[in-house]
Amino acid sequence: MRGKFVKMLRRDLYRRIKDALLTAGFPLIDAREIYRIASGKNIFDTNFDEMADRPEVETAKKLTEKRMSGYPIQYICGSWSFLDFELEVNENVLIPRPETESVANCAIEIIKNSRMKRNINVVDLCSGSGCIAIAISREIGNASVTAVEISAGAYEVLTRNIKKLAPRVIPVLDDIFHYSETIEDSCLDMIVSNPPYVSLNDYSALQKELYYEPRIALCDEGDGLDYYRKISEEYKRKLKKRGHIVFEVGDNMSDEVSLILREYGYGNIKTMKDGFLNPRIVMAVND
Ligand SMILES: C[S@@+](CC[C@H](N)C(=O)[O-])C[C@H]1O[C@@H](n2cnc3c(N)ncnc32)[C@H](O)[C@@H]1O
Repeated sequence: MRGKFVKMLRRDLYRRIKDALLTAGFPLIDAREIYRIASGKNIFDTNFDEMADRPEVETAKKLTEKRMSGYPIQYICGSWSFLDFELEVNENVLIPRPETESVANCAIEIIKNSRMKRNINVVDLCSGSGCIAIAISREIGNASVTAVEISAGAYEVLTRNIKKLAPRVIPVLDDIFHYSETIEDSCLDMIVSNPPYVSLNDYSALQKELYYEPRIALCDEGDGLDYYRKISEEYKRKLKKRGHIVFEVGDNMSDEVSLILREYGYGNIKTMKDGFLNPRIVMAVND
């Protein structure tokens, strides 16, 4: 957004934000969000013939430039929607993705369609913002959902999201591979996890915007499959007989993750597609 910080009509302010972002290839929603944050109004409640004051114009300019540098719109907003709720997000947590909505929905459907009727124990491993744990807890009234997260910064966001959106979720600040030692065998009805799955090789070639998200949320520092192997192995005995495991997997990983589950003795292994018809969910049963 070029030009001086002068007073201008709201119409002109919005047009400037929009022109700058659309010309640079960003979507219209980004312009609307930045206008909303700067002016405190969404475009549908705006009288475009009013003057925007100086702080509004300055904030709009600053945020537009920040976005144009590649900084994610979700972090600029400080919150992002997931299914039917709005999660706080900041640079300490992975931005919730649409494919993860499919994972949460899948886990919810499994619970609803199964014979798990009372005192259901679910653990969300690598919980981040808490999107999956919170979605399950809001839908399944009788589920006890635990959300395990290792990063202290993410844990702060997780606890605030839980308090606001699903206070029955139990947050745990721990390494999932230590947490497994603290719980009894055969105590879980379901494990759900969207672990870091970008390999060390792929990490260096990610899109620029992704580097604003925590490395620990994206990269497994190995071949991309490390967490699937370790979770499948270490948590198998924590699952009840016929208990379920539901993984989000990266693009083109569903076959390899299915193979891992088979190797560790899980049965009824299935791959499901997300809303974009990509095979991003792999689930199995503790036979
Ligand atoms: C891919 S993100 C998923 C976040 C959230 N579940 C989602 O779907 O948006 C992985 C998360 O796992 C956390 N994490 C990585 N290694 C972990 C470990 N060993 N134990 C617990 N959490 C871990 C990261 O800090 C990050 O928040």
